Amino acid sequence: MKDHLQTPTLAQAEAFLREAESLNPGPWVAHSVNAARGAQIIAGRCAGLDADAAYVFGLLHDIGRRAGVTGVRHIVDGHAFLMAQGYPDAARICLTHSFQTRQIGEIYGELDWTADEARFVEDYLARAEYTPYDRLIQLCDAIALPAGFCLMEKRFVDVAMRYGTLPYTVAKWRATLAIKTEFEAAIGCSIYRLLPGVVENTFGLEVSCTSSSVG
Ligand SMILES: [Fe+2]
Repeated sequence: MKDHLQTPTLAQAEAFLREAESLNPGPWVAHSVNAARGAQIIAGRCAGLDADAAYVFGLLHDIGRRAGVTGVRHIVDGHAFLMAQGYPDAARICLTHSFQTRQIGEIYGELDWTADEARFVEDYLARAEYTPYDRLIQLCDAIALPAGFCLMEKRFVDVAMRYGTLPYTVAKWRATLAIKTEFEAAIGCSIYRLLPGVVENTFGLEVSCTSSSVG
């Protein structure tokens, strides 16, 4: 399956992330690494998915944060960066990772994109074909704190407390839980059996979830 994907090599992806961290250091980098680890672990148990490609997609899904401390425009910045580098699959995931229900209004954060960029995203979402990798990164984004993995519902509440809720919030939760069910059917067990540290992170034994630049 990887033959059909246009992904950077692991070394290239790590170099992109290191450069981005130097431009805009923050907990988003550790969050990205954990999203990548989760995607790799889950994809490794799914027939037909490439765990290395999943890792790279997770590593790069928030790469738009290289442009600085931004809100929703990190997705268009990430898409533009990876398209310019010649990686359309990874670029697509920069855009799709925040849109489980394909509604432009479901994304959290400051609406700091231009009207043209918002229209571009809206049109893109209407046409984009979501692959299992898009859904896998949507899932892993929802369980990856900078310190590690946590119960999805904890992250839902964390985000809602930081940003408030939106008209699409419950639909977004349902869609993300449905993705979890889809992957659990594929792997034959709870994702929480595969991912390390869920109990520690979920119950606040080792983690702070207060950063506004994560996700
Ligand atoms: Fe993220």
